[in-house]
Amino acid sequence: MGDKVFYVTTPIYYPSDKLHIGHALTTTMADTLARYKRLRGYDVYFLTGSDEHGQKIQRKAREADLPPQKYVDRIVATFQELWRRLNISYNDFIRTTEPRHTRVVQHLLQKIYDQGDIYKSTYEGWYCTPCETFWTERQLKDGNCPDCGRPVELVKEESYFFRMSKYADRLLQYIKEHPDFILPVSRRNEMISFIEGGLEDLCISRTTFDWGIPVPMDPRHVIYVWFDALTNYISALGYGTEDDHLFRKYWPAAVHLVGKDIVRFHTIIWPIILMAAGIDPPRQVFGHGWLLVDGGKMSKSKGNVVDPMVLIDRYGADAIRYFLLREMPYGADGYYSEEALITRLNTDLANDFGNLLSRTTAMIEKFNGGVIAAPSAPEPLDEELKAIARAVPDEVDAALNNFEFARALTAIWRLVNRANKYIEETAPWALAKDPLKKPRLQTVLYNLAEAMRQATIMVGPFMPGVPARVWEQLGLADVPAALTWESLATWGGIPAGTRVKRGPALFPRIELNEQEGEGPVAVQETPAAASPAVKEETVAKPGEEEITIEEFARIKLRVAEVLAAEKVANADKLLKLEVKVGDERRTIVAGIARYYRPEELVGKKVVIVANLKPAKLRGIVSQGMVLAAVAGDTLSLITPERAIQDGAQVR
Ligand code: ME8
Ligand code: MG
Repeated sequence: MGDKVFYVTTPIYYPSDKLHIGHALTTTMADTLARYKRLRGYDVYFLTGSDEHGQKIQRKAREADLPPQKYVDRIVATFQELWRRLNISYNDFIRTTEPRHTRVVQHLLQKIYDQGDIYKSTYEGWYCTPCETFWTERQLKDGNCPDCGRPVELVKEESYFFRMSKYADRLLQYIKEHPDFILPVSRRNEMISFIEGGLEDLCISRTTFDWGIPVPMDPRHVIYVWFDALTNYISALGYGTEDDHLFRKYWPAAVHLVGKDIVRFHTIIWPIILMAAGIDPPRQVFGHGWLLVDGGKMSKSKGNVVDPMVLIDRYGADAIRYFLLREMPYGADGYYSEEALITRLNTDLANDFGNLLSRTTAMIEKFNGGVIAAPSAPEPLDEELKAIARAVPDEVDAALNNFEFARALTAIWRLVNRANKYIEETAPWALAKDPLKKPRLQTVLYNLAEAMRQATIMVGPFMPGVPARVWEQLGLADVPAALTWESLATWGGIPAGTRVKRGPALFPRIELNEQEGEGPVAVQETPAAASPAVKEETVAKPGEEEITIEEFARIKLRVAEVLAAEKVANADKLLKLEVKVGDERRTIVAGIARYYRPEELVGKKVVIVANLKPAKLRGIVSQGMVLAAVAGDTLSLITPERAIQDGAQVR
């Protein structure tokens, strides 16, 4: 256990429909842990996948008039695309229809059968197909599934049964001796009372449909989908095959992350299957709460299913990840709404985090020529900032080891907010007015950059898109020693003399644009968010910030026909063009002489910026600009794709 390996899993989701933000929540938690542990030097294995068999999928495929494999192939592709867009760093994606999985499931079942823990009988009882769960009459709630509340079906068929009851006492003892096995504690208590209420043997095969893995000793039966699905956690590691090095290295799993709906499967059925097969149980199962939306649980019938892909397009993966991890209370249910997401984005990400970076880099550029100079003797205010920085990493570690994602982020924000307050307290713009205060100014600027560096290292596992962008601006991209977790132990990871390069806002503010009914749109960071000293910088250097459609509309682009072209004397890059724009003639000087000969251009239609302020080049007044695409050594003029008259608007 002392060796630093960390095996983390998500549930393998049903490809019965596209995934929603509830699924994204579990997977984002798992990814954050995986990234965090990698940062801490662990050998991490992160598994996710898809649970493709069972009656529910077979019915869905039939409704869609597709063979089940085709049906799931299409949906699984959308899972993988979502994880790519959400920046999920899994090591393996297991599909239960893959032979590498089905083989192991059959092997495991055969093994348990051979030792006498599986017997044939008849199942008579209730079944919830959406949950793929067997229920006894007395477990039903008002005649419906006690988990999801939907109607159940009466089932009577020949089945194989697994002697779970035999292991009930051993499991109970295990749970009691391992207080951290099931987290949070509330779920642990639920499971203890469930087991104490009496465990029945589990039906582990079906005969009334065929979309599943055949029972090896009786192929008329298919294996119960939960027995099949749970086995993914070891089939992906090659358990029971010639090449089981991953299994030997990573099992038992450090943690299975699941939603509270399936804690029972992971803490009762799964450990008993493993016990029966002589395999160690996973070390931990963490069951988080539900992410609820307006109207409660998400469901197709309520029409309140939130598609994470749409949110990623609109707000970016980092903001969605931040929201999910920050907003879910530990172990309890949380709420999603787009307004709450935008509020988090505007306050925590744009105002607090993003603004700390832009203020810091802007002030270093403005007051110290863009250079982070060495700090001099610290003052009490500096010590206060450093004390917070010293305490936060351990708290992040403790919180993450306990799956308290929101607490970890809150701790990091204590540092971010302390640094923002430090700006107000030290007022660098005032220090900058007094040349004698230069050393103090440089110390303050250093500390701000250092606080930003430390916060960014810690934030990386939660928002993996952020660090590279910050390192670019702080000038640390090529200083690997300044980017490690270990570097947090010392205040002063930034080499003196580092050059900052102010860039676009990390998180542009979002404003609700309701009048136009277009939903929220991204707008530029408001000047109000910047300190007085920074305002001019914000205006002077917009960088590649987003612009509104109104701003874009101010630029008048038009099609122009080139009537004549000639070289400009003594300027080897310039051509002078005579163009026709509707009923207007114009002269334009363009820096394209290296790429086009004058005679090639005559008769061509190009696109020009028609309302550009005229400028004099080599004594010639240029009345506009020609648009061209450039990449490396190639330049290509932009021309209309089909015939269109000159003067036509481009928009
Ligand atoms: O149960 N809030 O798959 P599934 C939070 N195939 N988490 C949610 C959620 C919500 N509103 N909705 C879904 C299965 N989840 C089985 C798993 S594992 C061997 C087999 C998450 O597609 C949460 O993690 O129904 C929940 O446990 C899981 O998705 C259920 O996904
Ligand atoms: Mg489900």
